[in-house]
Amino acid sequence: MEREEHPKIGIYPGSFDPVTFGHLDIIERSSQIFDRMIVGVLCNNAKKPLFSADERVKMLRSVTSHIPNVEVRAFDGLLVDFAKQVGARVVVRGLRAVTDFEYELQMAQTNHTMCPGIDTIFLTTDLRYAYLSSSTVREVAFYEGKISQFVPPEIVPLVQERCRSLREADGDRKDRQE
Ligand code: PNS
Repeated sequence: MEREEHPKIGIYPGSFDPVTFGHLDIIERSSQIFDRMIVGVLCNNAKKPLFSADERVKMLRSVTSHIPNVEVRAFDGLLVDFAKQVGARVVVRGLRAVTDFEYELQMAQTNHTMCPGIDTIFLTTDLRYAYLSSSTVREVAFYEGKISQFVPPEIVPLVQERCRSLREADGDRKDRQE
């Protein structure tokens, strides 16, 4: 009864630059825990992303189209404000290894201190993806390595194409310097 009146809304925030099989695994698993799962794509990232927020949202919508209770939205500013705006009180994050722990703990505690009504839960990453990160994918793709084992099939050509443009721009810049 209570479940019907108060749907459990979870939020899975990240940069997703680009989305990987590791992200998708967390989204699929958390969508089975929550009634509604909102994937929040950070716009105001200090790092210069490979893809714009709109492109990342589009990619995530495409790879999650088979999960009916998942919604993908871009957000700006503080995560806790976005969580309040969408009515979520639980943030989901994936934990790959001990190396993630310190950063994740700091973020979860900061968010909880700013907004005590919001908690973070961690899903341990599937062992198949324990090593995987978007930055590794970007690096492998930049040097023309195979990325089909890291990202969904429809994402592969998008990353390859963007990295090709980057390499060309990099080559032009070096030519001008010589
Ligand atoms: O995929 P990422 O880059 O590890 O995700 C980090 C993210 C988006 C969850 C985090 O940077 C974030 O929540 N940024 C929004 C700004 C914010 O709320 N900062 C305070 C918490 S430390």
